[in-house]
Amino acid sequence: MDDFEQLKLEVNQCTKCVLSKTRTNVVFGEGFSNAEIMCIGEGPGYYEDQRGRPFVGKSGQLLDKILDVCGFNRKDHVFIGNIVKCRPPNNRDPLPEERETCIPYIYKQIELINPKIIILLGATALKGLIDPDAKITKVRGEWMTWNNRLVMPTFHPSALLRNEKLKRPVWEDFKKVVVKYREMVNENHHSEYC
Ligand code: URA
Ligand code: SF4
Repeated sequence: MDDFEQLKLEVNQCTKCVLSKTRTNVVFGEGFSNAEIMCIGEGPGYYEDQRGRPFVGKSGQLLDKILDVCGFNRKDHVFIGNIVKCRPPNNRDPLPEERETCIPYIYKQIELINPKIIILLGATALKGLIDPDAKITKVRGEWMTWNNRLVMPTFHPSALLRNEKLKRPVWEDFKKVVVKYREMVNENHHSEYC
């Protein structure tokens, strides 16, 4: 078994924080295990918890649509994970101690997948990976680096579902990712709209 499968087994049995008590399924994440792009969200919601898969509800459909417009998909280009792997009850935000307990798993996923670009979806991903005091409204759309990897923070798809006005800035952020992907990975990368 390779390290990635080993990690998946470990995470799927994890009981390190209280979220293990109320979850239905652990959501390890999914996509290409050697992806050049990783998207990181907050944590599973109702449907993700039911199905054991990331971003399969309304926000997930929107995320897939955005990725598709960029010419990306889960199978060939992207791995999608979350800061916490188990659903917080009633979709509350994960607590700082839950984030801290779960974060070594995303570190390990990043190390094993080894993506060139990390897209942080929303405040929890930004706070979890970069800085608990960082503000998504301030830093979104600007490239940052984390452990020698390029990081693009943007709004969470669920924020777009609540506020149409955020669609434009998120689209601008993803366009930057496509440009960078062409520079760093595949200059012939095709996308329909940018
Ligand atoms: N929202 C997230 O942050 N992650 C998911 O997996 C689904 C919805
Ligand atoms: Fe383990 Fe993370 Fe689930 Fe907590 S949220 S039980 S740390 S996998």
